[in-house]
This record gives sequence, C-alpha cells and structure tokens, in this order.
Amino acid sequence: MCGIVGYIGSEEKGVSVVLGGLQALEYRGYDSAGVAYLSGDDIVVTKQTGRVQALVDSLGEPTPESATAIGHTRWATHGTPTKANAHPHFNANKSIMVVHNGIIENHTELRESLKKQGYEFQTETDTEVIPHLLDYYAKETDSFEEAFHRTLDQLRGAYGLVVMTSREPDALYAARLGSPLVLGITDAKALILASDPAALMAHTKQVVYLNDQEYIVARRSGEYTLHNLKNDVAVERPAETLDYDADKASLGDYPHFMLKEIHEAPQTIRSATLGRIKPESGIVKLGGLESVADQLKYIDRIVIVACGTASYAGLLGEYAIEELAGIPVEVQIGSEFKYRNEPFSRSTALIVVSQSGETADTIAALKKVENYGVLKLGVVNATGSTIARMTDAGVYCHAGPEQAVASTKAFLAQYTILLLIALYLSNGRTEQYKPLLEELNRLPQKAERVLEQAEHIKSLAKKYAHYKDFMYIGRGYEYPLALEGTLKLKECALIHSEGYAAGELKHGPLALIDENFPTFAIATNSELLEKTYSNIEEIRARKGPVLAIATEGNEQIRSLADDVIYIPDSLEQTTPLLAAIVVQLFAYYVAVEKGLDVDKPRNLAKSVTVE
Ligand code: AGP
Repeated sequence: MCGIVGYIGSEEKGVSVVLGGLQALEYRGYDSAGVAYLSGDDIVVTKQTGRVQALVDSLGEPTPESATAIGHTRWATHGTPTKANAHPHFNANKSIMVVHNGIIENHTELRESLKKQGYEFQTETDTEVIPHLLDYYAKETDSFEEAFHRTLDQLRGAYGLVVMTSREPDALYAARLGSPLVLGITDAKALILASDPAALMAHTKQVVYLNDQEYIVARRSGEYTLHNLKNDVAVERPAETLDYDADKASLGDYPHFMLKEIHEAPQTIRSATLGRIKPESGIVKLGGLESVADQLKYIDRIVIVACGTASYAGLLGEYAIEELAGIPVEVQIGSEFKYRNEPFSRSTALIVVSQSGETADTIAALKKVENYGVLKLGVVNATGSTIARMTDAGVYCHAGPEQAVASTKAFLAQYTILLLIALYLSNGRTEQYKPLLEELNRLPQKAERVLEQAEHIKSLAKKYAHYKDFMYIGRGYEYPLALEGTLKLKECALIHSEGYAAGELKHGPLALIDENFPTFAIATNSELLEKTYSNIEEIRARKGPVLAIATEGNEQIRSLADDVIYIPDSLEQTTPLLAAIVVQLFAYYVAVEKGLDVDKPRNLAKSVTVE
C-alpha cells in the first residue's frame, strides 16, 4: 500500500528522514515515489516512477536538506503509475503539497465542482482534489487550519494524508479516516508523521496513533495539537512506546525477506505459544481473552473474517474450533462479508485475522458489526494496529515484523493462535487437549526438520518451475493448505494455480489434468489418506505429474507420486503447520528460479488498506 512520511523539526534533516522512511516502507509495495520540501519561501517537489532509489538519485548529491518535508510511495489505485500521478499533489502555484493514502470516493463530484470554480487538473488521481480544495478554502479564511478542517469535511472515502504549505512553513497538517497514520516524537522534539511505524523506527519509539476522524497540527517547535473532527474538540493523547525490534526487521544473511521469514517458522511457533500453553497443568492461558472470558461462555456461533492467506489460516481455525470446541464456525472473506445480509445475535463472536491489522476489507467487517452487540476478537500480528485497537479483545501473533509481501510466518502464527483459541474454548473437554498441547511444544523442532528439506524442495522447484499451470489438492485439514499453496505459487511465482479439496477433482477440475498440468498433492497421514491415494491414481491415469507431501515412513506414496517431500509425523490438527513450510519454500524457490522479485511481487502490496 502507499507509504507516507512527513518531517518537521528544528534541524535541517527533513528530506533524508523522509527518504529513509520511504525506503523502510518499500516492502509494502509501490510503483512511484515523490518528495516535497521547503526551500526558503518556496516548496520544491520531485517525483519519479520506480523505486525510491530513483528518487534519491534524481535529487542529486548531496541530498538537499530542509526542516520541513513530506514524501510518498504510491501503489496506483486511480490513474496509471506515472511521474505526474505520483504524490505529492499540489495546487496551481505549488504553495500547497499533499501526500495521501486511501481513496476519495467523491473525487469526481469534487473535481467537477472545482473545475466550475476555474481549477485545472494535471493528473488522473482522486488525490488531486485535495490541494485544490485547500487552495479554495484558504482563499476564504486567514486560518489554514480552518481551511484544512473545511476540506476534510468535504472528503468521503478513506484517507491518511499529510499537507505542507508555504503559507505556514512551521506546520504540517495530517488527518486520518480509514487509513493508518502515526506521529513519532524524537528526542530532539522533531515530529515525524507516517502511515506505518516502520518508517519511524530509526528515529523514535515514542508514538501517538491517530484515530479515524482526527487531525493533527504538528509544529516545528515540537508542539502538536490533536483534534477530533466529529465532535470538533481537542484531544489529549499521551505518547506510547512502540513494540518493534528493528533487528528482527533486518534481512540478515538471507537473500530475501521471504526466505528469512520462512526460516523463522520454529521461532514463530514458539513465540505464538510462549506463556500460553502449560502441558503439565493442561491449561491454555490467553491473557488477551481474559477480559471477555464470561462472554465467551455464551458464544454459540463464530464468524471468522479475513483476506487472502489470513483467510486460509481462518479456514484451518474453523476446522479446529468446530472439532475441538464444538462451536459452529464460518469463514468469510472480508470483501464479501461487508455486503452480505445475514443474521447476528449477541451470542455470535466475530474473529478477524490479520497480519498487518490494517487490511481495509477486514476493518470493514468490524465496522459492519459495530451496532450488533457482536463480540469482536482479533488475531493480529502488528501491535497497536487499527484492527488491534478496534476489537474488544484478542491474541497477538508475536511473529515479529513480516516484510515480504507474501505472508508466511504470519500464517503459521495465525493458525497456531486459532488452534490455541479452539483449545481454550474447549475448556479441556476434548481428549485431544493434552496431546495437542504436548505436540505444540514439540512442533518447533519438527519445523526445523522440515526446513532441513530446503535443498530437496529447491531441486524440485527447479524441476517444476517451467510449468504454466498447477493443481493443489488436500483433504480435511490439508484442504485449506491446498488453497494457501495455490496462492503462494500465484503471487510469488506468477504461475496459474488451482486449489481444490481432493474429493472435488472428479466434479470438474480433473478435466484440466494432463502431462502439462502437474498436481501438488498434500497426502499426509490421516484417516483420509486412502481416498487421496485414489485421487492421485485418477491424476496419474491422465498422465498428470504428481508432487506429494507425505509423512515420514510412508513408502506407498513413492509408487504413486513422481516426487515426494516428507515431513515429520504429527497430529492431524498440527500437520498443516509443517506442510505449510513446504508449500511456502516451494513457491519461493520457483519464484527465485524464474528470476522474479520474490519479496515484492508485481501488482501486490503488503498491506491492502483500500477496499
Ligand atoms: C498473503 O501472501 C498475501 N500477501 C495476502 O493474501 C494477505 O494475506 C492478505 O492481504 C491479508 O493481509 P493481512 O493479513 O495483513 O490482513
């Protein structure tokens, strides 16, 4: 998603802070970048398509400096990724500069109205209506803050935005509605605004989060005022300390973040269970749910809402909660849930699953149920994120920063947490309770053994990288994994891929199978394995190549599949956490074999903060 950084302070270092902040946000995906900074009484603005480095290069050496600067990395929503459409956007005399994340849904009517007032537009973007609106209102009042307030009153849709103006060189204006914005306060009293705390980390951990319908005026003196638009009052909010470990966010010796994050699997499972499972006493302790423990006793229906990979973790959670806690669960993807008309009751709980905690389609689910009295729980990785702050309670994933666009370790953490929630809700009434707690304690070592297969998986990735199509199949707990494996191959290796419940093949997808359409069969030990064997036979009868994941010791699979990747034996409910590492590594190595930008796949963003 778009990245926003703004700096104002007593030191002339704004441009380098902004550029460094944009580079810290590069992992989120974008296609162009720009920066504007105060130079004397004027504002200088530079934009480039491509990477932030292209912008740095275009600024020349030494990097120009300023005490006031704003910058942006753009992931195109309205308007193609061109230099003109890159942010910042500005008014005719370049006295007002705006960087924006989100979508102004009424931009067409605002554009038409401004054109009637004589305003001319230079770009195709929705954002450009903002500087012209500010210009219009700034002509009506001596207070730029009033002009800012009036402009915000006109905007519909979603925005995280930062504004600078040569009319007030000692101030930055920023506002938030549906798209994240955070203020960082440095020891030197400089104020840094950003769409993601990762841009602040090199400078401070003291932050103030803006909530929806709030704006902030940040001054060079280091003072700032927070204002609530809805009830038009000033807001007092103390700074909080960010829970973020910059070392964990670094690449280390790995070639890509995705590989690093896959190799964090053992630690991810440990971190997700740390202090939460006590096999000796057989207790699952989820401190984040204690405040709603009484309400949870009356929950008779759970709806899990998430997007993409998080929704597949949710589907695994559905299987586990239904089996272990006996509560009906339904998984819905965020973009559909928002528009469905379905009954809710006070005994329904909503569980939203999100790595970034900023996914607009998932946030929309929380907004939708606000007035239904539904218990809102979060399974989130990014602490302090919008979703984390909108839910009644929740369980953090503690997976650490996930920088690759493809979600890997977060998927493991999300399902591990959902499995713990299933056990927590079962109140120990399932005979699987103790065996699962003991297995979860053993799982990090088993994950290490799966990672030892990396070279074997890499060789298979080379062997299969040339195919244009792939089928993934699985049964029971393996089925959500077939969907996740498919998504990974699509988004990382840009290969068309289909994911199906193995039993569904004969109902249509089998027609696709021939010698050019291989199948990745997840065929681990379970009572359904014999049936998966039959599916593999059906595929082989059509000359379809088969690459299988199987449990160590299974010799029969060798006669059925062309290639086999073995994983350690585990319980049905925990096997997906091991098999997931295989499908993630396979997608990663195919992408590398194809020479693709594996950490930043084309067209995708790490955090999709627009609907
Ligand atoms: C996962 O590999 C994708 N990048 C994407 O599907 C992602 O899982 C989805 O956008 C949800 O993101 P979230 O977990 O941050 O809400």
